[in-house]
Amino acid sequence: MSPQPQPEVTVRAATPDDSSACGQICYDAFSKLSAKHGFPSDVPDAQTAASILSMLFSSPGFYCVVAESEGRIVGSNCLDERSLIAGIGPITVDPGAQNLGVGRKLMKVVMDRAQERPAAGMRLVQAAYHNRSLSLYTTLGFDVREPLSCVQGRPRDRNVPGCVVRPAQPGDLEACNALSRRVHGFDRGTDLADGINKKTACVVERAGCVSGYATVLAFFGHATAESNLDMQALIASAESFGGPGILVPSRNSALLRWCLANGLQVVQPMTLMSIGLYNEPAGAWLPSVLF
Ligand SMILES: CC(C)(COP(=O)(O)OP(=O)(O)OC[C@H]1O[C@@H](n2cnc3c(N)ncnc32)[C@H](O)[C@@H]1OP(=O)(O)O)[C@@H](O)C(=O)NCCC(=O)NCCS
Repeated sequence: MSPQPQPEVTVRAATPDDSSACGQICYDAFSKLSAKHGFPSDVPDAQTAASILSMLFSSPGFYCVVAESEGRIVGSNCLDERSLIAGIGPITVDPGAQNLGVGRKLMKVVMDRAQERPAAGMRLVQAAYHNRSLSLYTTLGFDVREPLSCVQGRPRDRNVPGCVVRPAQPGDLEACNALSRRVHGFDRGTDLADGINKKTACVVERAGCVSGYATVLAFFGHATAESNLDMQALIASAESFGGPGILVPSRNSALLRWCLANGLQVVQPMTLMSIGLYNEPAGAWLPSVLF
C-alpha cells in the first residue's frame, strides 16, 4: 500500500492572536505526553499555556512561529534571542498531527533564524523520557550536555549562614553579568533585566560581594552562582518555585543531595542539549526550561 499523501504544512510568524489556539495545542500535547508516561503535565491547563505563549509571542526578545495545515494551526515554536546563545522552545504539535514532520519543520525555521543572526550556539531542554523529542533534536545536530532533575517543594532550611539574599536592583546587573561570563562564558543581561523589572530577580551576597543571582526561582528562570553555598542560599530563600519546579543539574550531586535533604522532591528528569558554543560551567547553575 502506498503511504497516505500528507497535507502541505506552512510556517509563519506567530502573533498574539494565535496564542489561544496554540495554548490549547500546547496543553493537549504536554498533558497527553506526560499522562502516557505517568508524569505531571508541564502546563496545568490551556489558559495558562495560552498566557505563557501570549507573553512570548508579544515579547521583542523572542521570534515565534506557528505551523498551519489546511488553514488550521497545528503547532508552534519559540526562539529566545535575548543573548549570544539562542534558546529554543516551548515547541508543541497538535497530538493529531504528530510524528508527521511538523516538529522538524518548526525546529528548522527557528534554527535557520538563529544561524542568520548569527547566534554563537543554540540550546534547549527536553523531557528525558520522551523518545521522539530526543531523536528529533539529536538528528538535528543537538548534543546532550547535562541531565537535569526538576525539583519542587518548600526548602526546610530558610537561609544559609554567611549568605544574604535580597531583591536584585538595576545596579546589580554589571556584577551579575560579569559572574555569568566567568561561569558560562557569556551573560544573559536582558533576561536578568526583565527579572529585575518584574521584581522576581534576587541576588545573594557573601562577604559583601554579589556571589549569585536568579532571574526567578521557577521553571522559566535561570540562576548562576559562584558556589553551591551561594546557590543553596538562593534556593532556600524561595517560598515556592513557579511552574513544575527548578532544574538542578543532576551531576551536581552535592547540590541535588542538599535539595533532597531539605525536603524537595524530584518531579521529572530532563536533558539540556546544545549546538555550537558550550563551555562546561565553572560554578553553580540552574538552567531555565529554555536553557
Ligand atoms: C516533540 C514534538 C514537538 C515533535 O514534533 P513531531 O511533529 O511529532 O515530530 P516530527 O515528526 O517532525 O519528528 C519526529 C522524528 O523523530 C523520529 N522518531 C520518533 N520516535 C522515535 C524513536 N522512538 N526513535 C527514533 N526516532 C524516532 C521520527 O521518525 C521523526 O524523524 P524523521 O523526521 O527523520 O522521520 C511533538 O511530538 C510534541 O509536541 N510532543 C509533545 C510535547 C513535547 O514534548 N514538546 C517538546 C518539548 S522539549
